[in-house]
Amino acid sequence: MNYLHAYHAGNFADVVKHLTMTLIIEYLKHKDTPFRLLDTHAGSGIYQLTEKEAQATGEADTGILRLFENMDPKCKILINSQIDEVLAPYLDVVSAMNTGEQLQTYPGSPLLAKQLLRSADRITACELRISEYEKLNRLFGRDKQILTRNIDSWKEIKGLLPLEPKRGLILMDPPFEQPNEFERALDAICLGTKRFSGGIYALWYPIKARHQADKWSKLLVKRKPEMGVETILRSELYVRAPDNDTQLNGTGMIIVNPPYTLFNTLDTVLPVLQRILQQASKTERFQKTVLETL
Ligand SMILES: C[S@@+](CC[C@H](N)C(=O)[O-])C[C@H]1O[C@@H](n2cnc3c(N)ncnc32)[C@H](O)[C@@H]1O
Repeated sequence: MNYLHAYHAGNFADVVKHLTMTLIIEYLKHKDTPFRLLDTHAGSGIYQLTEKEAQATGEADTGILRLFENMDPKCKILINSQIDEVLAPYLDVVSAMNTGEQLQTYPGSPLLAKQLLRSADRITACELRISEYEKLNRLFGRDKQILTRNIDSWKEIKGLLPLEPKRGLILMDPPFEQPNEFERALDAICLGTKRFSGGIYALWYPIKARHQADKWSKLLVKRKPEMGVETILRSELYVRAPDNDTQLNGTGMIIVNPPYTLFNTLDTVLPVLQRILQQASKTERFQKTVLETL
């Protein structure tokens, strides 16, 4: 295992993934009944953008820092007011962690979620790599709302489900170091939906070439009957033409059992985010986003 999220924290993929997670959590909060987030690939929980790993790649510059540059620095209201309300819960958490002039600290998925939870809601945060797990455990070790586990989530998924309480989100954010990572995630979702059919499952995946994402989407459709679910969303945003295998050109999420509001919200917000986060020249032509129900 070589992957360390500190090199990528706050990049465009994190922004889109964390916003999507926030939208789902905010939806779950519409009901009084408590819920749990199962974060299968939690990372270390918090990242310093000034440290050498983040500085080495500079990926946050075209992610969260780019998004903050598009905000009015005084009132922290996005210049594009259309999506201000949608982005507010996510950006409020990031802002609250950065009281100085510069944005230096960026929350990982479990910390962002923790800031959004109500007192009765819970998190299980799993991390396989011991160095990352130790940081995660230092961050949350004494927090009664959060259970940290040093486990291989793919191997242990059966025992992690159903969630208790029996409402919630399963966020799967694997590093895609293994060639069969998407297939393993599909196996986990199929097993998961058998044990916990009402859960919302959100799987992140990287997009280099579009044909790979299309192949994965076809595979997912083929296995949908095994899941016994009605709705699956495919949501993608490309910052460059997704036509080569050399770099991360886009970010994707599969959401099984999505909140009924999610399609319309993403439909509004993704094109605006794409314009802010794009890294291609203005004249370059390619499809910028994909949003479809499978
Ligand atoms: C993309 S990072 C997670 C980032 C985090 N979800 C966030 O948004 O802040 C993926 C993490 O999964 C961990 N990991 C890799 N394979 C795993 C497995 N089978 N089970 C649990 N964690 C795993 C890696 O060590 C890495 O820290």
